[in-house]
Amino acid sequence: MHLAIIMDGNGRWAKKRGLKRIEGHKKGAEVVKEITTYCANNPEINILTLYAFSTENWKRPKMEVEFLMKLLDNWLERELQTFIKNDVKFETIGDISKFSDKLKKRIEYTKKVTKNNKKLTQVLALNYGSRDEITRAVKKMIEKNEEITPENIQKNLDITRDVDLLIRTSGEIRVSNFLLWQIAYAEMFFTPTLWPDFTTNELEKILNEFKKRERRFGGI
Ligand code: FPP
Repeated sequence: MHLAIIMDGNGRWAKKRGLKRIEGHKKGAEVVKEITTYCANNPEINILTLYAFSTENWKRPKMEVEFLMKLLDNWLERELQTFIKNDVKFETIGDISKFSDKLKKRIEYTKKVTKNNKKLTQVLALNYGSRDEITRAVKKMIEKNEEITPENIQKNLDITRDVDLLIRTSGEIRVSNFLLWQIAYAEMFFTPTLWPDFTTNELEKILNEFKKRERRFGGI
């Protein structure tokens, strides 16, 4: 199944502890590692898509944006071993053309080294926004002179797999321009837990609830 997560609440987690927002992002990055390792070792989960940086996040203070970019670079460097050890393939969605050459190289290298890994595909959404993704897909279709059908639109998206389960942490009940096309039939869970406090234990509970829900995809 395809699990997608909006990892929200890093800033509030830090503020609650009298720390700087970036400390929340640091802790958040550790949680990404734990959740990825758990998903790689859960045979029911094939794809894990994480919202790491949105097309709107550029509006944050320059220092925070720079910190997030640096964190991502360091994180990828460190996590390569985790990806290899846990048989995780690394991919991204979104438009990374605006990122620094150094970060782009790191991303490409991580993809290359992990491309044959099988247990889990971890997809990071980077400079990602669903409206931007759909717009780019339609532009590609016009260039290729493809017929405008739902199937063709889906084929041209950055990620074609429908989402089965969407989780958002931190108590906000909204989707924030994340995978709008792919969540058409997804089950959704919203938890008040802030992302840095999110655990594999809570994920397991949500997965158990998800299994109890009856999915009808518009049928009866
Ligand atoms: C939301 O918290 C989180 C983000 C904008 C970015 C997500 C980033 C991470 C989890 C850490 C880095 C990830 C990787 C893969 C290295 P927020 O800052 O919006 O929190 P707030 O709503 O409490 O302010």
